[in-house]
Amino acid sequence: MFRTASGILVLIVVQFFAMGDAVGGNTAPVNYILHCQGCHRPGGGGYPGIVPNMRNQVGLFLRSRDGRAFLVQVPGVSQSSLSDAELAALMNWMLPEFDPLHVTSDFKRFTADEVREYRSTPIIELRARRRKLLSLER
Ligand code: HEC
Repeated sequence: MFRTASGILVLIVVQFFAMGDAVGGNTAPVNYILHCQGCHRPGGGGYPGIVPNMRNQVGLFLRSRDGRAFLVQVPGVSQSSLSDAELAALMNWMLPEFDPLHVTSDFKRFTADEVREYRSTPIIELRARRRKLLSLER
């Protein structure tokens, strides 16, 4: 009886997330789980050599406008099924969450308009661009 009840509860929760995804309206952490975590892992550690670590590092991109744009232009973000507003909220949660070292609470938050602009300009030569952005002097 208990097993059945908890099984149904799991189904309801899964269904709730699935519905939320279809109509939008999930919180940023839930969108991270649904749309990003499969590759980036919980906490943003990634897979060395395959998916870059974001932990205590991803905020370094915010040092320049090109770096800010890069964070949205990577395919996992720009090609996501999330809306511009959902992605802005996701970035605004994720950056201080994964890199409190470099992203303080007063950082310039992403807006939906800004995300829309960056998404419309895809990156060519992604790896080279990434290397250049991370090597910038402070
Ligand atoms: C299919 C796997 C996959 C998914 C899903 C994915 N990413 Fe990524 N992400 C990558 C890979 C691989 C890179 C490295 C750049 C590249 O090769 O695309 C990356 C790079 C990034 C970067 C730049 C970090 C750096 O140090 O270069 C950010 C920020 C990022 N992803 C955020 C997200 C967010 C937010 C989501 C969810 C909306 C997401 N990604 C979904 C695989 C993924």
